[in-house]
Amino acid sequence: MAGYGSIRRTRVGPRRLKLPSFVVDNFTVQEPENTRSVSSGGNLRVLGLLAGVGEEVVAEPENLEGALGRMVAGLRAALRLRALSLSASVGERREASATSGIAGGEPVEFPILRGKTRVGALRAYADALDEGQREVLRTAAGVAALALDAAHAREAAAQKTAQLSVVQVASEALGIIKEEGDLYPTVLVLTLELLDASGGAILLGDGGVTSLGFEGSEGMLEALREVRFLGPSPWMGRIGGHHLLGVGLGNSEGAVFLTRPTRPYTEAEGVSLKLVARQIARARERSRLYASLERTSTEAISALAAALESRDDTTGEHIKRTQVLAGEAAEELGLDPEGVRVVKYAAMLHDIGKIGIPDSILNKTGGLTPEEWRAMRRHPETGAHIVGRIAGFEDVVEAVLAHHERHDGRGYPAGLAGEEVPVAARLISVIDAYDAMTNDRPYRKALTHELALAELEHGSGTQFDPAAVEALKAVLQRRRK
Ligand SMILES: [Fe+2]
Repeated sequence: MAGYGSIRRTRVGPRRLKLPSFVVDNFTVQEPENTRSVSSGGNLRVLGLLAGVGEEVVAEPENLEGALGRMVAGLRAALRLRALSLSASVGERREASATSGIAGGEPVEFPILRGKTRVGALRAYADALDEGQREVLRTAAGVAALALDAAHAREAAAQKTAQLSVVQVASEALGIIKEEGDLYPTVLVLTLELLDASGGAILLGDGGVTSLGFEGSEGMLEALREVRFLGPSPWMGRIGGHHLLGVGLGNSEGAVFLTRPTRPYTEAEGVSLKLVARQIARARERSRLYASLERTSTEAISALAAALESRDDTTGEHIKRTQVLAGEAAEELGLDPEGVRVVKYAAMLHDIGKIGIPDSILNKTGGLTPEEWRAMRRHPETGAHIVGRIAGFEDVVEAVLAHHERHDGRGYPAGLAGEEVPVAARLISVIDAYDAMTNDRPYRKALTHELALAELEHGSGTQFDPAAVEALKAVLQRRRK
């Protein structure tokens, strides 16, 4: 997983191993009159061995077992013990152990302490141990504790990173899903992948089921259905020979379950799934809000469009025609459903800013004064300002703002050119012009279809985006067949 790189970066400096000073006294200052089996050269070797193990584990905690194994074997040889063994717990569910030689008889134990907690022991098997050997073994137990610390910190960091990735990936994926129906399969695919599960199911309070990896074991799903009203705390169990992890979605909404045949779920995985469950609950809430917002917005927009219609009798029908044509041309251009939706709303709303223009200018039959033109040219910005108040319409705002931009950059308000102009605005610009030309306006009569098309082609590449002109032509051609 990508997280390893970041773990390395977040480790706080290289931790130097500090050997207790009494060891130095014992092995280098005082000559070993009380160390029968360890020579002075041996002392240095032992010190080097211990320091080496500490350094190695701090640098590469995943090599913990290997490093401890080498320490045990090296110490047993240097101290001439019959056997030496080490066993300790690293984290919640991980044990580290190493043995060298053939253990037999009563060992002398050297506890391995993390803080004040005993997490394991080093056991030495020998006929007798002198004080020098005992000091070495005590130090070795301290080194083992340091190594366990390093490995534990690394493991905790890795779990934390895994949890973060689950949540990040899930929330990013869920954030972009607006339809509740699309939500559950996506969540399951992600969660199975990230938490190493073979099967996953989301069972809703209303009886709805989405599952993945339960083919041929529908009985298991039936059994899960019975227990779907879970609380917010991770729930672990066994089902049909599989390990089971479940978390409730809150408020009797149902639960999300994971199963796998191989190993039990850990508490850390429970926490990850709990975070996923929270994301699901949020995404459900969001998709419901979105649906109601969409309804409210559509109502609000219809009211706005009706208001504009009442101001200017050419505008109402123009809006409807433009909206239908724009939707078809957007599909012709190959936009996705979201893109088509944006185009349709933008077509409906593009001239909404005209609501701020006085009747005397809007319905004037003669030419406009420069002052009146300036007022008229403000309508894209006024429109964007109005649409900007509708949540979820950010893309529509851009299109409304840019619907008088030109392909050659000589439009307004920003002078955008080519692809800088949002695609919805490019389409609307062409369709707006076509509809205006082919319908009567206060200041002139309608042009024929053929003349209007000739005008569009004349402007293709300068005023209009050529692809948008082609898309409209294809739609109109189909219609006239
Ligand atoms: Fe306009």
